[in-house]
Amino acid sequence: MGERFQDRVAIVTGAAQGIGAAIALRLSREGATVIGLDIKRDELAALSAHLPRFEAEPVDLASLTDIARAIEKIRGKHSRIDVLINNAGVMDYVRIDLAGLEKWRRVMAINLEAQFHMCRLLAPVMMEQGYGRIVNIASTEAVQPEPHVSIYAASKGAIFSFTRAIAVDLAPFGILANAIAPGCIHTPMSIVNGVDETTTDVFQEWYVGKRKIPLARPGEPEEIAAVAAFLASDECSYVTGQTIIVDGGLTITN
Ligand SMILES: NC(=O)c1ccc[n+]([C@@H]2O[C@H](COP(=O)([O-])OP(=O)(O)OC[C@H]3O[C@@H](n4cnc5c(N)ncnc54)[C@H](O)[C@@H]3O)[C@@H](O)[C@H]2O)c1
Repeated sequence: MGERFQDRVAIVTGAAQGIGAAIALRLSREGATVIGLDIKRDELAALSAHLPRFEAEPVDLASLTDIARAIEKIRGKHSRIDVLINNAGVMDYVRIDLAGLEKWRRVMAINLEAQFHMCRLLAPVMMEQGYGRIVNIASTEAVQPEPHVSIYAASKGAIFSFTRAIAVDLAPFGILANAIAPGCIHTPMSIVNGVDETTTDVFQEWYVGKRKIPLARPGEPEEIAAVAAFLASDECSYVTGQTIIVDGGLTITN
């Protein structure tokens, strides 16, 4: 594989597992120094053993103090940050009449506010170097919600608008910002209450058998990583402010 990210420094949030780990692996294999932020210390440490030039940065992204401390440390160590992948997120199913403010605030803090803080705190570094690629991970739940996802969908829908708006702010500085809305991806997040949702009868009958997902299968984290790597690279030179849907066609069917 070529060295698209040689001498590039990339931050990936939620890098300990699932989509974030796949993105960290992909960027690292293509030459990047990857700094992985996650609350799961042990999983991050395990990744360090596999990846060359990988730096583990344990952080609770629900805490601004934690985020600010991590960024200060990273800035002290690295003179440039080329790529920011805002991937960390949590899913919390709850019907709207049962949803409380506490749950709303927690999901918003991790899924949305952390992206806001990472962008606003790292934008000055990218502006000064006149280069940057930002990739925010949203979700197709924002446009085609399942039951009980109002809070999650709101957090992800805001990422579409936030990404469009920062793309305008940052374009004069050579910084491109895009988002990815994954559909149904086979990761630890697709295991709900101990059940892998991609193996249930309903999923197999409706999403696969009846081709609600035209490609008739869940996606793999590596398939999100491939798109993220493009958006994070120099090959992405005329795409900004977009949310790329990567869902096997899920949102094109009724
Ligand atoms: N899996 C899917 O089907 C799917 C679909 C659409 C969007 N997404 C989005 O993709 C992103 C990655 O999801 P995934 O499927 O890999 O999920 P995952 O649960 O496997 O991984 C999420 C990672 O984020 C980390 N994280 C969660 N809260 C954190 C916190 N407070 N501080 C630091 N790290 C924290 C977790 O520790 C974990 O490593 C999320 O934003 C998710 O909403 C996933």
